[in-house]
Amino acid sequence: MKIVGICGSPRKDGNSEILLNEFLKYFNGKAEVKKITLNSLKFIPCQECETIRKDGRCKINDDMQEVYNEVENSDLVVVASPIFFGSLSAQTKMMIDRFQCQWLGINFFKTYRPKNKMGIFICVMATERDDFVDNARSIIRHFFKTIGATYFDEIICKGVDEKGKVREKKECFEKIKQVIKRWEVINNENKI
Ligand SMILES: Cc1cc2nc3c(=O)[nH]c(=O)nc-3n(C[C@H](O)[C@H](O)[C@H](O)COP(=O)(O)O)c2cc1C
Repeated sequence: MKIVGICGSPRKDGNSEILLNEFLKYFNGKAEVKKITLNSLKFIPCQECETIRKDGRCKINDDMQEVYNEVENSDLVVVASPIFFGSLSAQTKMMIDRFQCQWLGINFFKTYRPKNKMGIFICVMATERDDFVDNARSIIRHFFKTIGATYFDEIICKGVDEKGKVREKKECFEKIKQVIKRWEVINNENKI
């Protein structure tokens, strides 16, 4: 099994990364785990190319090519992002926009079919406002659909602002355990 964890926070060791690490840690030695930190990659936003490749591949040759490969070959994609101005971080949104080529490959050119996979959304935010999560979740749902991922579950951690504050939120760590447990049950059922 291959898992890719994508961290969309610019803050190293920030709240998103802490939760993502906690999730991925469990799978060390049990699955092939890859972590991508978007803020460390060199990539540009979607350029809405006039001449789009019909195979669903983006022609911009930057670090997003690595992201495409990892996402494409994964069984589970975990995206962790803070809420910034009621939405995903710019890093996360910029990555998602770059999947427009795959959306076109699937829906317009019908030349690309992503492998079926699962998706999990980890989200942290300072306030308790549900509408901010609704917005981010909606974008993540579209993203997961585009990459062939079923929205398996989410870990939403509200009321965390300072770096590392999430460590005090025991319920968020508990939620991670629950999600992993459910994941294992479903995967074991599928193996039978
Ligand atoms: C540019 C910026 C915009 C933010 N906008 C919001 C917001 O709209 N709603 C909110 O609840 N928190 C907002 N926050 C707070 C972050 O979501 C919060 O600090 C989060 O824990 C950061 O996660 P990180 O440590 O993984 O980067 C914002 C923070 C920044 C830096």
